[in-house]
Amino acid sequence: MISVKGLTKKYTVGKADFFALDGVELVIADGEFVAVTGKSGSGKSTLLNIIGILDIPTGGSVTVNGVELTSLTPKAVAAYRNKTVGFVFQSFYLEPSYTVYGNVELPLILAGKVGNNDEKVNAALKMVGLFEKSWEKARTLSGGEQQRVAIARAIVNDPEYILADEPCGNLDSANSKKIMDILVDLNRAGKTVIMVTHDAEDAARANRIVTMSDGKITADEKIA
Ligand SMILES: Nc1ncnc2c1ncn2[C@@H]1O[C@H](COP(=O)(O)OP(=O)(O)O)[C@@H](O)[C@H]1O
Ligand SMILES: [Mg+2]
Repeated sequence: MISVKGLTKKYTVGKADFFALDGVELVIADGEFVAVTGKSGSGKSTLLNIIGILDIPTGGSVTVNGVELTSLTPKAVAAYRNKTVGFVFQSFYLEPSYTVYGNVELPLILAGKVGNNDEKVNAALKMVGLFEKSWEKARTLSGGEQQRVAIARAIVNDPEYILADEPCGNLDSANSKKIMDILVDLNRAGKTVIMVTHDAEDAARANRIVTMSDGKITADEKIA
């Protein structure tokens, strides 16, 4: 479970304070698929990045499975980023010169698993339908395929939470649908998914839509 309380992110621009997050309250239960929507600049990425410890808040708290994130030691932060959450970004961020396999194996290597990683890597690649492309260089794949590699990389350590920031933002509608199908499948398999999107069709695939405006949550709607 993720519990966000009174979360703020303040930037001081010149003499003025600007709140990218302005007192966010949010509880996400295990097994939910939450879409976070809202206009550009409303604070969606900031919220997701703080949950993933890619950014730090200026106030309030995020508690994940009972542990407050700012209380984690640097070593625990590294483990959290590597194993508890899996991040998927709009721009994929693959290593272009590595193979598909090499990209997906990276989080395992970073976690110190330098032996034979075939079982986990192959399972992740099969999940996204790219096992056949294991030995191709990442840069030779289409955008949609690259995003599927990024999802395989995000799930290879079997994280509890998948955090996706505009995962379909650079993709056409056919490839977007494939990505959304994979995220829905992962959610059905038990993963908690939090996805930032400004596409209403993609948001409708979630089972809850949280809307942000000016750093605040302005609507929170469950979908049957
Ligand atoms: N380093 C920064 N300094 C000042 N303002 C920032 C900085 N980073 C982000 N912001 C502002 O915080 C707000 C929220 O940004 P963001 O979370 O990226 O929004 P979203 O993902 O909803 O488009 C935006 O207005 C953005 O300009
Ligand atoms: Mg954003």
